[in-house]
Amino acid sequence: MGRLFLTTPIYYVNDLPHIGHAYTTVIADAVARWHRLRGDEVFFLTGTDEHGLKVQRAAEANGLSPSEHADRTAARFLETWKLLDIAYDDFIRTTEPRHHQSVQAFLQRIYDGGDIEPDTYEGLYCVACEGYYNESELGPGLTCPIHGRPVEHMSEQNYFFRLSRYQQPLLDWYAAHPDAVQPESKRNEALGIIRQGLDDVSITRTSLDWGVRVPWDPAHVFYVWFDALINYATAIGYGEKPDRFDAWWPAVHHIIGKDILRFHCVYWPAMCLAAGIDPPARISVHGYLLVGGEKMSKTRLNQIHPADLVADFGVDGFRHHFLRDAPFGPDGDFSYEGMVARYNSDLANNLGNLQARVATVVDRKCGGVGPAPRADSPLAEVVAAAHAHADDAWRRVAPSEALEATWRIVRETNSLLEAAEPWRAEPGPEVDAVLGDALEALRVVSILASPAVPYAAAEIWRRLGLEGRPEDQRLPDAVRWGGYPGGLQVIRGDPLFPRKQD
Ligand code: ME8
Ligand code: MG
Repeated sequence: MGRLFLTTPIYYVNDLPHIGHAYTTVIADAVARWHRLRGDEVFFLTGTDEHGLKVQRAAEANGLSPSEHADRTAARFLETWKLLDIAYDDFIRTTEPRHHQSVQAFLQRIYDGGDIEPDTYEGLYCVACEGYYNESELGPGLTCPIHGRPVEHMSEQNYFFRLSRYQQPLLDWYAAHPDAVQPESKRNEALGIIRQGLDDVSITRTSLDWGVRVPWDPAHVFYVWFDALINYATAIGYGEKPDRFDAWWPAVHHIIGKDILRFHCVYWPAMCLAAGIDPPARISVHGYLLVGGEKMSKTRLNQIHPADLVADFGVDGFRHHFLRDAPFGPDGDFSYEGMVARYNSDLANNLGNLQARVATVVDRKCGGVGPAPRADSPLAEVVAAAHAHADDAWRRVAPSEALEATWRIVRETNSLLEAAEPWRAEPGPEVDAVLGDALEALRVVSILASPAVPYAAAEIWRRLGLEGRPEDQRLPDAVRWGGYPGGLQVIRGDPLFPRKQD
């Protein structure tokens, strides 16, 4: 048994939650659920990033104060995570007093160590990124390479984090921790940025006051990224509960999108080194979810909101799609047609159909009472291999692979039934044997699939006549072949996943 501190990015409250935010959050939630099934001690953190110029301007555009605006949008994130059954342990908001305290303690520590110093800065700033760019990095007409919007000229007298001093320490750290950033392509991207040479970063602002005050110079507030990254330390008690902090740090695992790789894989580890703590142990970086080949954004008006898809596919249909459809790492294109196809094949035709046909035949041939599985079932090996593969894949944050392995059990069980055709046979030991095997396979699948489809998993479990819930089971014992006792009343129920029109 292990211990896992798992995090999502904290999302900006200038935007409403869309499927990009849900994508990262559902993956992190499913990974957290898998580890809980293993009996690991899990602390799963998400939250909202509420300071900075971008949020301040979004509030102004809506005629609200920044704090009113932040309250409203944070509520929308909480609502969305509730809808999607995200089982976080803590939701952090950067406007909370606990976070101000921790940011001040963390950055004071770096200041006292000499790696934060006053200086003048002039540069080209993208408000949407909350970041400076070199001219060479910009698109035509001095536009941001990510947002395509013109950057702004900024000149400030403020404090700098001496990031340039951390080039070699970061290279050394990554050399000693080759698995820290995954997948490999993203690790290489991080190393590329570091090898190019690192400029010092301006980390305070006097031009706005929507932020955390600089403790040694209260005319300044911290630059939003240098406040935001520290949320991961705040949530485990940085500066306030040293025992708690030491229990969870540095065994942290950040899950992020590639847009914020530089901040997480370069700035944040350097900040940790400067503050005298270890950099994060693991950072898993995924690509963009594209819509019609383009990144979703407010300006392109191509954002899709989770509730709209949940209305059509249900919570499980939503979660399963984003976990299963594309491998973690590369960009993936979202389409409604693709979602219908995936829903129909995996959920309606495979899992849903298996549950329905088994329950129907048990009803007809066994008086509704489920028989026990065979000890020497051909499915026993299928289950053992699928569990081993899924465990490895979930731990590597490869959800599509984990679910592919899990669905192998569903397909093999359907094949077994099609070969044996118990619906044509006379009631008796042969029919009982194959139905017992299928019931046992369903029991195992409801445990292994519960991180992805928690509602359906619980419902299958109930229809098998079992007590408790799949998520309360413990791996690996719970999936050892033969756990279905037999003699239980099996319920057919309505279709779990009604088929969608193509
Ligand atoms: O960057 N595809 O917040 P943010 C995949 N506050 N993932 C996407 C996505 C897409 N099209 N769009 C968004 C910030 N995401 C900072 C983070 S952390 C200390 C501070 C997801 O609201 C993905 O996880 O812009 C991405 O990294 C994150 O949302 C950016 O969220
Ligand atoms: Mg963003």
